[in-house]
Amino acid sequence: MTEKMKVVVAERISDAGVEALRKVLDVDLRFGIKQDELLEIIEDYDALIVRSVIKVNEQLLSRAKKLKVVGRAGNGIDNIEVPAATRRGVLVVNTPESNTISAAEHTIGLLLSSIRNIPAATIQLKSGRWDRTLFKGVELYGKTVGIVGLGRIGSMVATRLASFGMKVLAYDPYITDERFRRFGAEKVAELSELVRRSDFITVHTPRTEETMGMIGEEQFKIAKRGVRVVNCARGGIINEAALIKAMEEGIVASAGLDVFEKEPSPGNPIFQLDKIAVTPHCGADTVEAQDRVGITIANQVIAALRGELVPNAVNLPTLQEEELVSLRPYLCLAEKMGKVYFQLDRNPVDRVEVTYSGRVADKDTEMITISFLKGLLEPIIGEKVNYVNAAMITETRGVKVASLKEEMNNRGYVNLITARVYATNTFMEISGTLTANREPRIVSVKGYDTDITPTENMLFVENVDRPGVIGPFACVLGEYQINIAMMGVGRRGRGEIALMTLNVDSEVDEEVVQRLREIDGITSVKVVKF
Ligand code: NAD
Ligand code: MLT
Repeated sequence: MTEKMKVVVAERISDAGVEALRKVLDVDLRFGIKQDELLEIIEDYDALIVRSVIKVNEQLLSRAKKLKVVGRAGNGIDNIEVPAATRRGVLVVNTPESNTISAAEHTIGLLLSSIRNIPAATIQLKSGRWDRTLFKGVELYGKTVGIVGLGRIGSMVATRLASFGMKVLAYDPYITDERFRRFGAEKVAELSELVRRSDFITVHTPRTEETMGMIGEEQFKIAKRGVRVVNCARGGIINEAALIKAMEEGIVASAGLDVFEKEPSPGNPIFQLDKIAVTPHCGADTVEAQDRVGITIANQVIAALRGELVPNAVNLPTLQEEELVSLRPYLCLAEKMGKVYFQLDRNPVDRVEVTYSGRVADKDTEMITISFLKGLLEPIIGEKVNYVNAAMITETRGVKVASLKEEMNNRGYVNLITARVYATNTFMEISGTLTANREPRIVSVKGYDTDITPTENMLFVENVDRPGVIGPFACVLGEYQINIAMMGVGRRGRGEIALMTLNVDSEVDEEVVQRLREIDGITSVKVVKF
């Protein structure tokens, strides 16, 4: 990076995170900036870092002309309109693993403090009174806890509560039975069963249309009288109005809440209930979690601005660091293969089929296909396409994409990628491989065998396969001082049309192309840039 790129940090991250950003970027710390103020300045920044307050929505993104990456310093991404970011090619990264322990521990804290009336007792002592009779609580031991959502945090809560001697039930329709067994939870198939059987209910799902209000009036009607609830996930998963009513009616005996339907919501009537422990969405606020979150988000944002693929990006296929390392050369090969089509043919594409055979077929190839699509679109829409939006742009252009794996058909190559690009009346096949030292080679184009090392300036030339054609061709290039660095010829059959590919050391302009096309025996000359 020559001129430093600019990042605005709109919500507090740790000093360690800020320090990491400052080593590489021009950092503007605007902790606590209002949404409206951010709207006014966002167009200046290449990156934005938020937590859960700023809404990264269509309105903000439409003004963020230079924005390349949004870093969510934390886990939940419900404050980010991910499809809108994807449409604009803005990468969204988060730090899903960094604060899970803190959130799980905070859940236990809220549970214990609410069932033992710790907040009310604290308030009494602070007010100068001393009455031991008012705060009788209940034990966890021997009771049943129902966990809704057995993901990263739900599973940590499960194992921790089991150590208190609790029976753990869990409801999560999206995970395998093995996961329930691993965390010692009894699987329940219906939420209603969990609600009926639990003495305590804690929710750990993301906020989605399905989960909003999933614990509400209906559930409180069938819950055990005296049930106790905790929400340290997202506001609204337990409906607030229904909770207030159920607590006033004595159905819910206590509640621990870190998250609210509207945040911030000073003066929320729910805070006035007696048997409640409330915290202002600070489940992840520990020294350890915030250091991890800050450093992780800083590194992810820096890597994204460098154009690197980032593990666990929200709007890209999930890849671990090691997988990325092994995939990178294939991504480079596929992108170069993709660039060939529109530089040889202008027919609008309606279908793309990418087939993987040999060793590459064992890999997670989704990202390789995306890389091919990025390369395919680049010659026609330029820099607007990137890894984030390539698949979406392809889809909105009505192009169907299929990806296949074949065990055998690798034509003697250890690994082979073959892309078939279909247009209304035409079709082009391009194959590529990686050499032993993981360099990209394009090994066939349009049915011609080739051995192309893709370099910046190339010519793809079709000519009649007969003596006296290549010589004059090379002479014209010589006349214009264009040096041929590498050259290959391939043909389908003797005397038919052949493909000549040339790597040249300088750009070939239209005047030269015109001269080359006039040579007897030359049927087509295309400049191809990689
Ligand atoms: P996760 O993605 O690892 O787990 C979520 C689980 O919920 C998944 O197993 C999923 O299958 C399950 N789920 C989804 N829809 C469901 C449904 N309708 N019914 C039942 N289960 C369903 O997420 P996580 O990292 O464990 O985070 C859980 C929640 O905690 C998220 O909402 C996250 O934003 C929140 N969180 C809050 C804090 C905080 O400070 N309070 C900190 C970190 C995370
Ligand atoms: C999260 O999703 O990571 C939490 O809500 C914590 C936070 O926003 O910082």
